[in-house]
Amino acid sequence: MGLVGWLAQRSPLLCRIAVRALPNPIKLLTWKTYERWLLTFRLPAGQMAFCNSLEVVDEVLKRDSVNFPKSRFVTVLLRPLIGDGVFGQGGGPNVKAKRRAYFLALAELPEQEVDRVARELTREYVARWLREGDKVAVPQELSRLTIDIVSQLMFGTRFTEAESRQFVDTFFTYHQKASAVLLLCSSGRADATQDLVNKMGLKAVGETLRTLIDQRFVAPFMQEKDGGFDPQHPDVPYFHRLISEVIDLKLEGETAVPVRQQIHDEISVLILAGHETTASVLSWLFWELSSPESYRGNLCLNADAAPVELMTGLINETLRLYPPIAFFLRDVEQEALFRGKTLSAGSSIVVSPWTLQRHKSFWHDPANFCPARWFNGNKAEDAELPTQGEDTQCQFPKMKRHSFIPFGAGTRICPGKNFAEVEMRAILSEVVAATTFSRRPGPAPQPLGALTTRPDYNFRFEFQPRLGPKQGT
Ligand code: HEM
Repeated sequence: MGLVGWLAQRSPLLCRIAVRALPNPIKLLTWKTYERWLLTFRLPAGQMAFCNSLEVVDEVLKRDSVNFPKSRFVTVLLRPLIGDGVFGQGGGPNVKAKRRAYFLALAELPEQEVDRVARELTREYVARWLREGDKVAVPQELSRLTIDIVSQLMFGTRFTEAESRQFVDTFFTYHQKASAVLLLCSSGRADATQDLVNKMGLKAVGETLRTLIDQRFVAPFMQEKDGGFDPQHPDVPYFHRLISEVIDLKLEGETAVPVRQQIHDEISVLILAGHETTASVLSWLFWELSSPESYRGNLCLNADAAPVELMTGLINETLRLYPPIAFFLRDVEQEALFRGKTLSAGSSIVVSPWTLQRHKSFWHDPANFCPARWFNGNKAEDAELPTQGEDTQCQFPKMKRHSFIPFGAGTRICPGKNFAEVEMRAILSEVVAATTFSRRPGPAPQPLGALTTRPDYNFRFEFQPRLGPKQGT
């Protein structure tokens, strides 16, 4: 790995070859990473621990955990896209203050409003899919739809069709060029990782995305005279809430960052975190539902479960098998001792919902897509941490706390969880109520794995109108 890192730093061409040659991180997972409680590796960038122990996960992610900030590799890999936006920042008081702004803004957005806008826009997309017949590129269309939903709700406006297509395609390019694994092959020093990110060509791709965001969602809300935020801009109350909170923040040590840039960075976070995740989950769910031996039969026949429970079961099961953010990478700031192993300061630690949610000690028949495991009120929120020495061979309904963490947990838990759940249910029920769909010939998609687990290509479906009574919820 050290050789790959060294070669990649020689030239942009060698760097791009290295990105292509390195397998995506999900392909690097071996049986040990799926089964061992704590596995340590020595990488050129330092020691790295991979943990499935729920006690260790709790320690790393827990509320107010200060010793395990988000990794410096994440910061550098995402900076061309989101600048100093909260998603890429390690931790500390500024992150805490910005997260509070997100929670306040998103909490004020009524669920009914999310549901209404998501359904309205989905119906618009579905009408077009039905006209297009067998040409519908599902992951791409879901990305466009979910960007429209988040931007319509937050800014009262959305990309034009041309902008939306350009944005989604360019973001896909960012995915293909970005490699956290390559950063772990470097020495890990700040100058070396920054150099690699430059050589990956992320700056130009990030600039295209940021320009699109700037033109559509930042510039129109700025005062013409001094470039500050226009507080009088009508009809965007939730956006106002977020932005005014961000502006009001007394950011420690960040006074040099102009307000306009802060706003641009946070809007970029909102657009990126608020669409790619839901789009990825729904892409995998529609893929599963289109499988010949799929659960779709039950869905059509109106299965035993009540429709809301059915929707929740389908969505949770997809979140379990295909968590959009497969790895939470953290730095170890001060030496830590876990399960008898010492992790020195500067090491990395990985918590992976991908492995936890497929771990055979926590899940019965883990590889099986089985929405019914979520019926009868089984909820992640009710789960308990295992007590010392307790047998971890658990099946539902005794789910263990942290064995299901697609939205993260503790200090950096996703502020958009509620939004996402309402939105995904609305999209799913509208699509299923109005259409039947089938796969067009093509290979089975693989999770991309670089930034999220979205499918590695835009597989296509044929949509046809559903005949008979609607079954939406
Ligand atoms: C299925 C949908 C979603 C999933 C699975 C998801 C998952 C996550 C996860 C795992 C994190 C934390 C990453 C870490 O700890 O390293 C996160 C952060 C975040 N998410 Fe979500 N998310 C989803 C949808 C959304 C939506 C719809 C929004 C906004 C409307 C949103 C906004 C954010 C923001 C702003 C952060 C950054 C918080 C921080 O940096 O502390 N997410 N998300």
